[in-house]
Amino acid sequence: MSERFLPEKDAYNVVVVGATGAVGRTMLEILEERRFPVADLAPVASSRSAGTRIAFNSKEYVVQDLEHFDPRGWDIALFSAGGGTSLAHAPRFADAGCYVIDNSSAWRMEPDVALVVPEVNPDALEMARRNRIIANPNCSTIQMVVALKPLHDVVPIRRVVVSTYQAVSGAGGKGMDELARQTADLLNARQAESDVFPARIAFNVIPHIDVFMDDGYTKEERKMMDETRKILDPNISVTATTVRVPVFYGHSESINVTFEAPLPAEKAREILAEAEGICVVDDPKGEDYPMPSEAAGTDYVWVGRLRDDPSHPNSLQMWVVADNVRKGAALNAVQIAEMLIR
Ligand code: A2P
Repeated sequence: MSERFLPEKDAYNVVVVGATGAVGRTMLEILEERRFPVADLAPVASSRSAGTRIAFNSKEYVVQDLEHFDPRGWDIALFSAGGGTSLAHAPRFADAGCYVIDNSSAWRMEPDVALVVPEVNPDALEMARRNRIIANPNCSTIQMVVALKPLHDVVPIRRVVVSTYQAVSGAGGKGMDELARQTADLLNARQAESDVFPARIAFNVIPHIDVFMDDGYTKEERKMMDETRKILDPNISVTATTVRVPVFYGHSESINVTFEAPLPAEKAREILAEAEGICVVDDPKGEDYPMPSEAAGTDYVWVGRLRDDPSHPNSLQMWVVADNVRKGAALNAVQIAEMLIR
């Protein structure tokens, strides 16, 4: 047994930075649901919402302003308030002895920062002993590596080609507001203005998430490609196309996987059915397959449409769906917090 990260206590002092946001609110819900032993809670956000109240475990807490928050005496901070906020504030929390679990992309690819999906690479958490910052991977990466890992353990994966269908909640509360508003506007024959997304998202599909880079890929695509290699295996080549669709909750992914040797879809289905955190729904005759409408609000990574790829003897095709705000963000962060107190 390895040494504990935090001393054994009945309960721990927990900060949620971004507590008023889509992910932050879900972090609070999941801490409650999983009965995380919270001694004191600090919901923290910007000065805009400081002073408002948040209910947690039947008690009310006042939202505090991050700029003036003193992290001394706090054990764990779950950050989901954007990359700039994490870069500016996570180090002072870590220096004060508080473990930071950061949902932004700010620290993910730093070589000495742990990038952890508990079902996939729990040992990577060891790195956090030195710097006390742990990065929560990108939402699309998390659900993909959860589905790939059990297969990779049986037959090594060589190459992954993925296309995503990502929900607007990935862009936070403001993304959901924009889809709702544009839908209502268009149904009422009004002009739909775009503010959060680069084009109209209502009744549309946008092959552009985050900014474009010089090589023609977007940063979201680059995150999936780089993070998968850091978490799972640097020897896997990955190419991604990430697409925003007008769905509120739940990212879907069409994944083509090429292995070192053949892994028949039937065998892959058996492996995934036994794997931690995965639910296989794959019945073409019954027309049963995973969809965001059913995955939303659940903690599983749902896998279906498993089939052999007739274009390559070592490849198979699969469809993977998960709640991007839960397993893709808040749940994964709380699972990491659970590892810290184990
Ligand atoms: P606030 O409510 O004060 O704006 P979402 O991803 O749903 O848009 O939510 C973003 C979260 O991050 C909110 O809780 C928001 O707080 C918080 N946030 C954004 N910018 C900052 C900042 N500079 N300092 C602290 N919290 C921030």
